[in-house]
Amino acid sequence: MNAQIAEINTDDRAHVAEQVRGLGEWFHNIDLGGVETAPEHFLGDFPRVKWERFQHAIPADLRGKSVLDIGCNGGFYSIEMKRRGAHRVLGIDFDERYLAQAHFAADALGLDIEFRKLSVYDVHKLGEQFDIVLFLGVFYHLRHPLLALDLIHEHVSRDLFVFQSLQRGTDAVEPVDDDYGFWHTDAFARPTFPKMYFIEKRYAGDPTNWWIPNRAGVEAMLRSAGFEILEHPENEVFVCRRRSLPSGPRAIYVPIRRDDYD
Ligand SMILES: C[S@@+](CC[C@H](N)C(=O)[O-])C[C@H]1O[C@@H](n2cnc3c(N)ncnc32)[C@H](O)[C@@H]1O
Repeated sequence: MNAQIAEINTDDRAHVAEQVRGLGEWFHNIDLGGVETAPEHFLGDFPRVKWERFQHAIPADLRGKSVLDIGCNGGFYSIEMKRRGAHRVLGIDFDERYLAQAHFAADALGLDIEFRKLSVYDVHKLGEQFDIVLFLGVFYHLRHPLLALDLIHEHVSRDLFVFQSLQRGTDAVEPVDDDYGFWHTDAFARPTFPKMYFIEKRYAGDPTNWWIPNRAGVEAMLRSAGFEILEHPENEVFVCRRRSLPSGPRAIYVPIRRDDYD
């Protein structure tokens, strides 16, 4: 907690609370010197409760590192990265309301974090690679999730890639064969085979929940997009390292980094 904000008096707190309310409904609960931005969140103290379950898997000292937080929302994870000393943190989101909240929270905490309106599909416009890319809670909101993974790998990821997705189905994973014969149909009925469920209408009342993979599906897609899984510290979170791409067809077929294929 930033000392300055921790010491604000009751009048200042009332003012901060008023500004927080003026920024609309928050999805991220952030403690701004005693003012909580989303105290009634349906998932509890979110995303802190989730962060507490995987924060040990991210380096505690990020001095000298750059971080890109894709789908930064109210800025919770960008703030935590800055608190770990990252020299540059950039949060992007395509929703201006969330970006305004993120700006406000970082300012209130006295943290120098950049936020920009940008879709994950436009990350090539950044023209920059980052030591750590966070891609938390965005994948399943996309109609073209594999395209997003390919673009991230191609344009902005340099080393660590931290991924989180809503998941359904079994947590068990089966080994993937190199090929499956045309008449071999049993695999598709197995719950451990990599799968991604398509939601035509809504899931949890949200029409932007398009795809929900099982764990095997997440792992297979990460590998296929060139991310080696280093750790699985929480049931929905994967800490990965960017690797060269496995050969084969993909959404982006004209690589800019041509030395990138096996
Ligand atoms: C479920 S929230 C996750 C927020 C945060 N990353 C977390 O894990 O708590 C999804 C966020 O992704 C953003 N988002 C969805 N589609 C996006 C896109 N195409 N480009 C950038 N941000 C997107 C939404 O605006 C929202 O802030």
